[in-house]
Amino acid sequence: MKKIIANWKMNSSFDQSDAWFVDFISLYDDNPAPFDKVEAVICPPAILIDNLAANLMDHNIEALEERVAKSNKEITDFSEDELSKMMLDLKSFMLGAQDCHFEDSGAFTGDLSPELIAQTGAQYVIVGHSERRANHHEGDELVAKKILAATKHNLKPILCVGESQETRQQSNHLDFVAKQLKAAIPANAKDLIIAYEPIWAIGTGLVPTKEQIAEMVESIKKIAPQDASILYGGSANVKNAAEILSISGVDGLLVGGASLNAKDFYKICEIASN
Ligand code: PGA
Repeated sequence: MKKIIANWKMNSSFDQSDAWFVDFISLYDDNPAPFDKVEAVICPPAILIDNLAANLMDHNIEALEERVAKSNKEITDFSEDELSKMMLDLKSFMLGAQDCHFEDSGAFTGDLSPELIAQTGAQYVIVGHSERRANHHEGDELVAKKILAATKHNLKPILCVGESQETRQQSNHLDFVAKQLKAAIPANAKDLIIAYEPIWAIGTGLVPTKEQIAEMVESIKKIAPQDASILYGGSANVKNAAEILSISGVDGLLVGGASLNAKDFYKICEIASN
């Protein structure tokens, strides 16, 4: 099952996320089939998680009521198991946060605890994104603590790694990423998602060649826990998704800019389901 994860970064408003939801869910209602084969996750600014979760809940209840009405039965004619199965069939996307603190609570102004994030209905959290590493001076040791904290609260961590242009030019990219992984992955990490995001590809329109991605994925596999999923991120879009997803070992995409357009995000999920 491929994973397509949207990273909205510090973009969108309440109105824009409502509009995104309307666009996305109408495509989903027309053809929900891709989501049997794709795990889609939206990581909006944390304040919008609850809003998207509420939109999704309203949609799913309405869809459930429609199904019950079509069956010419009353909702009370269905067992709890049947209803929860019908609800589970309505899987479009899940939610995630873009970062978390490693403590449950405390004097950490501006930070968000993984416990609170989990309460919003989020099931994933991105950690170690290169923008947090650069703008907030976050290092691998801190990222390791965040992974442990996320796991403690049943949030699946999405660990981002990737080299700068300079590191690649010096042909140190494999060593650099290996070092990041060794320092950031806690012992016994389970269900880890690793996103290889070369910094020079993020938001630039530049994408590594298939060979470059394949080489890095192979190198990551030697270090990562066996059950880890490996995604690619950095200027992934509708045009290049099929090619990147065809690379052996690539389990999905982390999509920034292109995920802000609901149609493009749906299309990328559709491509991933093929
Ligand atoms: P991008 O961002 O798709 O806009 O390049 C990806 C990311 O930073 O996760």
